[in-house]
Amino acid sequence: MRESLVEQRRELHMHPELSFEEWETGKKIREQLLTLGYELQEGIPAPNCVAILRGGKPGKTVALRADIDALPITEENDVPYRSQNEGVMHACGHDAHTAMLLGAAKLLADHRDCLDGNVKLIFQQAEELIPGGAKPLTEAGVMENPHVDAIFTQHVQAFVPVGSFSVSIGPAMAATDTFKIHIRGKGGHGGHYHAATDIIVVAAQVISALQIISSRKLSPFRPIALSICNVHGGTTDNVLPDEVVLGGTLRTYDTKTRTHVLDEMHSILGHITAMHGASYTLDLHCGYPAVINDADAVAFGKRIAEKLIGEGHFNDHEDPSMGGEDFAYYLAYAPGAMFNIGIGNAARGITASIHNSRFDIDEDCLPLGTAFLASLAYGYLKENA
Ligand code: NI
Repeated sequence: MRESLVEQRRELHMHPELSFEEWETGKKIREQLLTLGYELQEGIPAPNCVAILRGGKPGKTVALRADIDALPITEENDVPYRSQNEGVMHACGHDAHTAMLLGAAKLLADHRDCLDGNVKLIFQQAEELIPGGAKPLTEAGVMENPHVDAIFTQHVQAFVPVGSFSVSIGPAMAATDTFKIHIRGKGGHGGHYHAATDIIVVAAQVISALQIISSRKLSPFRPIALSICNVHGGTTDNVLPDEVVLGGTLRTYDTKTRTHVLDEMHSILGHITAMHGASYTLDLHCGYPAVINDADAVAFGKRIAEKLIGEGHFNDHEDPSMGGEDFAYYLAYAPGAMFNIGIGNAARGITASIHNSRFDIDEDCLPLGTAFLASLAYGYLKENA
């Protein structure tokens, strides 16, 4: 199937659509699945597409998920299949995810009679943009009718060489909260700072002090990422502003740690602003929950992958990532795992990471990822029949 998979991926790559705008992509997917004889789950809002294949024998239901959206990035690759939608690019490989799941859809439909249960294929919009596409799908009942017993997905990664996979057991992707801190005080003349509350200095102390949370307030065995990513305050060079706004992201793996960090942030903000006679507010915006891979699902995936690629090409001790993924929402309903599929190939110059304007994949991953997805579904149903 290599040729058709490459063609499918390049077609998607040339016509990327932004999160929540994947109308044409969704339509193409739906048409192909109907042609293959899939039944579409009712009540699922377009452009999402959820397709069910009922196997020849009764059994459990396994779900496979692909995300279908692209990013607001201008592609810098000079390739024949370069994005034709200027300013929009499949720079996270969701074109490959979609092509591989469509390939698996064909393989599974061709072997429908030997499936011990049902396969549900989830083509999900808007992974890249909070609140994301997964949460509304779970609310629309994607994990029921029929009830999903296990769910799997894969994500392309350049740091994994093509022909291999990696995965973390347990924590895999972090919860992705963002926050805004407003620091307020009395503005004034830059030369007469003693008559004002210099909240630029307050903000500087806050930014520095927040770093002691990860270095001194938490156990070294509790990883977090707390980054101030933007600072806004002031308009001219001789006026002290009356407000500084700090924006940032907080990445955690469990609610206990998240609560602890927030308490420490309030403590630091409270003490530093009080010392200067300033005030503050801290607003947290909840993002995706953490992706926690089920240990049995990871072990199962390893067995399946090693049947395809032999031993020594499946690293099940990958470092967890502080990136986020809305695949987490499905895992609240059924155990599962998210695997990294290798697409990197230094010899061919394929090294750019996801979300880079030069991101590309080694297309040799396509047949392997297709086989892996189909084998996960087939194998899960067989082992649990
Ligand atoms: Ni992605």
